[in-house]
Amino acid sequence: MNYKDALQNPIFKIISEASKNLNLDSYVIGGFVRDYILKRGNAKDIDVVAIGSGIELAKQVAKLLPNSPKVQVFKTYGTAMLRYNDIEIEFVGARKESYNEDSRNPIVENGTLQDDQNRRDFTINALALNLSEANFGKLLDPFNGIKDLENKIIKTPLNPDITYSDDPLRMMRAIRFATQLDFIIEKESLNAITRNNKRINIITKERIVVELNKILESPKPSKGFLLLEKTGLLKHILPELTNLKGIDEVEGQTHKDNFYHSLEVVDNIAKNTDNLWLRWAALLHDIGKAPTKRFSKKVGWTFHAHEFEGSKMVYHLFKRLKMPLNDKMKFVQKLVFMSSRPIVLAQDIVTDSAVRRLVFDAGDYVDDLMTLCEADITTKNPKRFEKYHNNFKIVRDKIIEVEEKDHVRNFQPPVSGEEIMKAFNLKPSKEIGIIKEAIKEAILEGEIPNEHEAAFNLMIKKGKQLGLTVS
Ligand code: CTP
Repeated sequence: MNYKDALQNPIFKIISEASKNLNLDSYVIGGFVRDYILKRGNAKDIDVVAIGSGIELAKQVAKLLPNSPKVQVFKTYGTAMLRYNDIEIEFVGARKESYNEDSRNPIVENGTLQDDQNRRDFTINALALNLSEANFGKLLDPFNGIKDLENKIIKTPLNPDITYSDDPLRMMRAIRFATQLDFIIEKESLNAITRNNKRINIITKERIVVELNKILESPKPSKGFLLLEKTGLLKHILPELTNLKGIDEVEGQTHKDNFYHSLEVVDNIAKNTDNLWLRWAALLHDIGKAPTKRFSKKVGWTFHAHEFEGSKMVYHLFKRLKMPLNDKMKFVQKLVFMSSRPIVLAQDIVTDSAVRRLVFDAGDYVDDLMTLCEADITTKNPKRFEKYHNNFKIVRDKIIEVEEKDHVRNFQPPVSGEEIMKAFNLKPSKEIGIIKEAIKEAILEGEIPNEHEAAFNLMIKKGKQLGLTVS
């Protein structure tokens, strides 16, 4: 088979020429070839394998390019990278040995193409296109990866126990590709992952999170999380989620399985947002339910203050996984913390003041919070499903209405502390706080509009009630 058409980008001819100058063969391999055949759009990464030194080839390519771009060399890995327009091209010498993450020795580049293909993760990622002049575009597919692409199968080139112990991250990559591409992991591979799941603990958290994020960014993330759970990987990575598994029964009373519920919520939200952090919030919104679960004869199962507990757990989880402890984390925390608020609203008659309070507390996150809560409706009772959705629609309309009128989204007190001090000739004191709180409450309750004049009049009234005199 010839795939010349895949190599229309002028960079491939340049790599071909550079290879000829160095008298070596080179191939484009991996994701670029896979994604071309799957028609997955324009690749931003190109991996090139040289039968010889990848670093030398990269330098030679750079020489042939206009403006000779900078070549970044990673000596310990025996690789080099350069940028061409907005594409990153990585060069590596064909390898015989499996590579070792922790090894401080440079990688020996003494393999053939077939050696290199043997050491790749999956048959669909071992597809290579020849870049030599004579065979430009010729496909080399020793493991019938093309057939696996057609049949949508993730399979390792070698015995899976060897492939996964070469790099245990591949266990997660298998699940990530299965989720992203909607492929099936071959049974032997799945068994090997299950057997080796503990080895995920030697992988850096950062690499694990890259895969988790890609699973979460897939159209149906639950597929990946179910596979992570089934193979036993999930309990090593996100025990907070596996702790949600199961249904307890006491005196005939049960609660829902919060693990499967959480996955349903993530799938729901994936239909409505690409925001990765909102998807994280959906995944984690109920994690506080495991430590707060109680049973009492009077009320049955409760998860008292699970939202507060959950938001604290988000911090520890992000820290453990070396995820950013910045505004993204705070966003997830806040959404988890507020995740039950709109539901409570939607169960009842929706009042203006309840909506105003919601907007006040959620601030700029209010729309995302609504998206989360709509996804959280997983009831199988069609009447209740419709009622909640209708009520959420009312809430959404009211949010716009209330915001237009009262601007409480990023609430700034219409009367400042200074103004209060001046009006009553006060020094800093607790009365100022009391008056400010009374004004805020009156606005949220809809007793006065969020305007200076109304707030000022209320300030005078409140001050008098507190025994203050206007100066
Ligand atoms: N590879 C591997 N084992 C790994 C990582 C990568 O064998 N643990 C090989 C595969 O052949 C892969 C290639 O290196 O196709 C490039 O890896 P990478 O850029 O991480 O993945 P892609 O396959 O390009 O896919 P994606 O961009 O979706 O991550």
